[in-house]
Amino acid sequence: MSYVIAIDGPSGVGKSSVARAVGERIGFLHVDSGALYRIMTWQCLLHQVDTSCPEAVAEFSKSVEVECVPEAGCISYRINGVSPGNAIRTPEINCAASPVATVKQVRERITSWLRSLTCFGNLIVEGRDITTAVFPDSPARFYFDASAAARAQRRQLEEIRKGIANQSMDQVKNSLLARDRIDSTRQHAPLRKAAGVYVIDTTQLTLAEVIEVVINALPPAWKKEQQ
Ligand code: DC
Repeated sequence: MSYVIAIDGPSGVGKSSVARAVGERIGFLHVDSGALYRIMTWQCLLHQVDTSCPEAVAEFSKSVEVECVPEAGCISYRINGVSPGNAIRTPEINCAASPVATVKQVRERITSWLRSLTCFGNLIVEGRDITTAVFPDSPARFYFDASAAARAQRRQLEEIRKGIANQSMDQVKNSLLARDRIDSTRQHAPLRKAAGVYVIDTTQLTLAEVIEVVINALPPAWKKEQQ
């Protein structure tokens, strides 16, 4: 049986950085579930599917196949053998991903892909519905939060680091808040703080501090396995 650490929270709270680092420390594969919603959106746009039309997205999503491969401590994704790289990190995809993620059939497909990844071993999975819908029974569920200003600043720094920054801080913040609104008010599996999750406000914490909080909160047996 595989162990799953589940992390949810809005954009820019540090989920990816923390999940990657914790995964590395204790030998769990990092799974970025948002990348799958971005890939679905990217494929819609490439095939001229109207991302504001749920019926069109639902129908098209049935044809998308994503190969999931464990690689260098994380799950990498390929479409027809090609890794999407930064093609799924554009402002256009930032905007269109939230409407695509409201579509029930898209969520069902991606949820089943995510659950199947336990065949590769222990996982640390981050997203918006991991603690509530994908792995709601995990004994290690976290919800990260942070102020909108801190989140926008981190997201912009990340974009600068990746060489894809082309928006002002205000534009980054507005786009992030617009996405959060859609993600937390949609009908199917909205972002929310589930009962019993460990809530961490990362606004005033460094990356190293959040990593320690998460590792300290894990069931002791999960850490012992790696020693
Ligand atoms: O975390 P991200 O910005 O890469 O996520 C892209 C979009 O996918 C965002 O609108 C939230 C949505 N998402 C979701 O609905 N459920 C998840 N488990 C992960 C992401």
